[in-house]
Amino acid sequence: MIQGNSRVRNLVQSLRTASSFPFKLANNRGYTSQPVPSLQKASQPSARREDEYADVDWDQLGFGLTPTDYMYIMRCSKDEDFKGGRLNRYANIEISPSACVLNYGQGLYEGTKANRTEDGRILLFRPDQNATRMKLGAERMLMSSPSIQQFVDAVKQTVFANKRWIPPPGKGSLYVRPLLLGTGAILGLAPAPEYTFIVYASPVRNYFKEGTAPLNLYIEEEFVRASPGGAGGVKTITNYAPVLKAIARAKERGFSDVLYLDAVDRKYLEEVSSCNIFIVKGNHISTPATNGTILEGVTRKSILEIARGQGYQVEERAIPVDDLVDADEVFCTGTAVGVAPVGSITRRDRRIEFKTEGSLVSKELYSTLVGLQTGRIEDKKGWMVEIH
Ligand code: COI
Repeated sequence: MIQGNSRVRNLVQSLRTASSFPFKLANNRGYTSQPVPSLQKASQPSARREDEYADVDWDQLGFGLTPTDYMYIMRCSKDEDFKGGRLNRYANIEISPSACVLNYGQGLYEGTKANRTEDGRILLFRPDQNATRMKLGAERMLMSSPSIQQFVDAVKQTVFANKRWIPPPGKGSLYVRPLLLGTGAILGLAPAPEYTFIVYASPVRNYFKEGTAPLNLYIEEEFVRASPGGAGGVKTITNYAPVLKAIARAKERGFSDVLYLDAVDRKYLEEVSSCNIFIVKGNHISTPATNGTILEGVTRKSILEIARGQGYQVEERAIPVDDLVDADEVFCTGTAVGVAPVGSITRRDRRIEFKTEGSLVSKELYSTLVGLQTGRIEDKKGWMVEIH
């Protein structure tokens, strides 16, 4: 297990107030009366106990935003590296109306989770993978990006500072949302002259309102998610608003989410709006090969590795939509979604159903993944990062 570094502790001790940050931070939550936590204070008898929880009804958690105490912000001006990152009170930020991200969508986001273990540790799941993906995305979008170490360090600091918002074991996770935004002002279509890296967090549980019940997906005929040569393979913010209409239409018809086909032949499975997709046939597990149009999910990659380790024949390939007819099981993977079984997929008026009861491959794989993420299973892969 990779240990978190003690810098996190020192940096949290030296938290500064929001007013010292170059952005104007709108104090929309009355935070000025709340003391800045420090570990020194926490060790004194009158201070908040380190293990104290925020006032949240943990049994009611879904995937909505619960604002937490702190966010991390770091900036970078043209031709310079990111530097001077620090924690600030969670608050609105103010940016120019002509910021590149607002006008031209030059922005990337990530998602990762922190969990509490039964024995009181805090574990992050493969944050280096998110850091690397953000770096690759930044290259595609012509953006400056934080180094892998800066990214991981920022995530650790954000989680540590918001520790009281990490749900109790078994009640959910702290979802961590790093953003990279072209915040510099620009009028013509060109890269922003300034970038801002922000990390905020929110406690969450199940992504879908179905909870852990099987999903019912709808195959979209009109819209595609991404096309060859586009940016579907990177986590740009511009990949998400265009699918809202498809999701809304599917939800109106009672479906959980939309499954997209490839833009060229309209014949091969791509991904779901919020997650990657897998099909199971006997001992074979397949997922669409990433070819620039499919997001290289961290959970997707981890499940592929776990499945291989458990003796499944694992394949990344072009999956014709017709293969669904023969599939035993279908499941989705994603940081927010976890591993979710799919009960049915509907295309036009044809509904195909899959196995969702008894011994399920998706259940077995998810149990291993969650076991690693929550410290129940020993991490022999070096995936988990402990924060302390
Ligand atoms: C995630 O799983 O972290 C995502 O970014 C998907 C998002 C639609 C919540």
